[in-house]
Amino acid sequence: MSDDTISVLFVCLGNICRSPLAEAVFRQVVTDAGLEDRFRIDSAGTSGYHTGEPPDPRTSEVAARRGVDVIGSSRRVTQDDVASFDYLVAMDEDNRQVVERMAAGAGGSPEVRLLREFDPDGDGSLEVPDPYFGGASGFEDVHDLVERSARGLLDHLRERHRL
Ligand code: 4NP
Repeated sequence: MSDDTISVLFVCLGNICRSPLAEAVFRQVVTDAGLEDRFRIDSAGTSGYHTGEPPDPRTSEVAARRGVDVIGSSRRVTQDDVASFDYLVAMDEDNRQVVERMAAGAGGSPEVRLLREFDPDGDGSLEVPDPYFGGASGFEDVHDLVERSARGLLDHLRERHRL
């Protein structure tokens, strides 16, 4: 991987709903822009509740209907992640704080952000709400937020890195 690769790790709690979706949507947005060779994109969770499990089927089904393939198996954020990724993009404030603390102790210098900082149509909230314990409409709403924010994130990174 070349030195000018921009690495982005999406982070949520379980790594089965929000962050694997953000990973998949962002990868698609990046690929559509012809920039896939410039990025390393992954996702992880701050808990180990679902380690090894595939994405939640409710997430995958909503995404599939919108032409996005959500893949992978849940894994926990590691010290190596926070030391090596350029951007840690969290879905909510709790998870942002966890990775910020981890990064402070790991000797890396990632930029730690919330995904919805890049939502151009934000309603004031900077969080992608956790859909896990809610109904089906929550997964549709999460998909909308993630899609808008992923495009906003790429716009930001294109400007920042002159892509
Ligand atoms: P995620 O959703 O953080 O978006 O993957 C959740 C998945 C599982 C749990 C909580 C949130 N859980 O408590 O098991």
